Amino acid sequence: MERATLPGPPLPTKAAPLTIVTDLSSRRADTTAPLITQLVERWSPRAYDPAAEVSTEVLRTLLEAARWAPSASNSQPWRFIVARRGTAAFTTVHDALRGHNQTWADSAAVLIVNIAESADAEGRPRPWARYDLGQAVAHLTVQAQHEGLHTHQMGGFDAAKIAAAFELPETLEVVSIIAIGVLGNADSLPEALREREVAPRRRKPLDELVIAAE
Ligand SMILES: Cc1cc2nc3c(=O)[nH]c(=O)nc-3n(C[C@H](O)[C@H](O)[C@H](O)COP(=O)(O)O)c2cc1C
Repeated sequence: MERATLPGPPLPTKAAPLTIVTDLSSRRADTTAPLITQLVERWSPRAYDPAAEVSTEVLRTLLEAARWAPSASNSQPWRFIVARRGTAAFTTVHDALRGHNQTWADSAAVLIVNIAESADAEGRPRPWARYDLGQAVAHLTVQAQHEGLHTHQMGGFDAAKIAAAFELPETLEVVSIIAIGVLGNADSLPEALREREVAPRRRKPLDELVIAAE
């Protein structure tokens, strides 16, 4: 396969080393069954190292993880806008974020806009498009964790603003944005966000999630 070139300035080929400033043991999932390390250690920080970059090579790996997700009829109805910090695209995406998201996400190395192709070329709806996109992004998050990066998905943004800025057709629906970067210093966050950064991670118990199991 020919390797497409990712847009933007050339970047170093290796991800910067982690700047560990949060008690990571408190961020680990307290699971009731053994899971792979990446799932145990994935969480959604808001503090990112504002100087760290994600290399083109690693960024390609993350997108490749999304690319190999399963989808209904193998329709692969996911599209992405990749915006690296310091680019015009990053400013555009960041400007569309709402509330606190604007405060913390400016330190992320990359913002990716996650887009579902909600209808095919003939206008027939793709009912599973958002489901498939979510699954592709989930693959990306696990791969990012494996690469020593962290991710934080967002629904708090102005989708119409992004669609207009990137001149997206109606068949492409902006669903979410994911911030990707190297973990940063929680003390750099405003107090309210810093509290959330260290708050206990909670989940509903499994028996509340499983409606029937024989
Ligand atoms: C679709 C989606 C939308 C989200 N929107 C936001 C958001 O706008 N701002 C934010 O700070 N976190 C947002 N989150 C992050 C969630 O709050 C977070 O994943 C959840 O609290 C679980 O925490 P964990 O990812 O650390 O396990 C979003 C997550 C998802 C999957």
